[in-house]
Amino acid sequence: MLIDLAKIIELPKIFDERGNLSFLEEDNHIPFKMERVYWIYDVPGGSTRGGHAFKNQHELIIALSGSLDVIIGDGVNERRINLNRSYYGLYIPNMIWRQMDNFSTNSLALVVSSTAFDVTDYVYDKEAYLKLLNVFK
Ligand code: TYD
Repeated sequence: MLIDLAKIIELPKIFDERGNLSFLEEDNHIPFKMERVYWIYDVPGGSTRGGHAFKNQHELIIALSGSLDVIIGDGVNERRINLNRSYYGLYIPNMIWRQMDNFSTNSLALVVSSTAFDVTDYVYDKEAYLKLLNVFK
């Protein structure tokens, strides 16, 4: 199943009484080269982000602060994953439908992406996504 390619990646944790530290390196902790990072913050309660797929982009989503839910789907199966630790990343390969909601107050979601921003990489239409999936299968 396509959706099974998405997975939680546990990042290194350096616990320290002075404060904890985590990190990630491309080709070591994440299965892609990173080209870009962006972050989502100041999300009003009840908001939904995403609601699309990427043709080529792979990504890792980390709740650096607070929590959020990521809903992933592949046209057949759907999963809701709650991210609430800064040392867990959700790896999502290309061609997975994804949406984010249930953001806690002051949540900060970091997205590590395999591509530079490219609006033509977005698939916003669910029907078009399902059609493309048949091609990708
Ligand atoms: P978008 O990815 O559609 O947000 P979401 O999927 O979370 O709802 O991006 C929102 C807007 O920000 C859109 O106009 C494109 C712009 N944007 C950039 O210019 N660069 C970026 O790296 C990203 C992620 C978005």
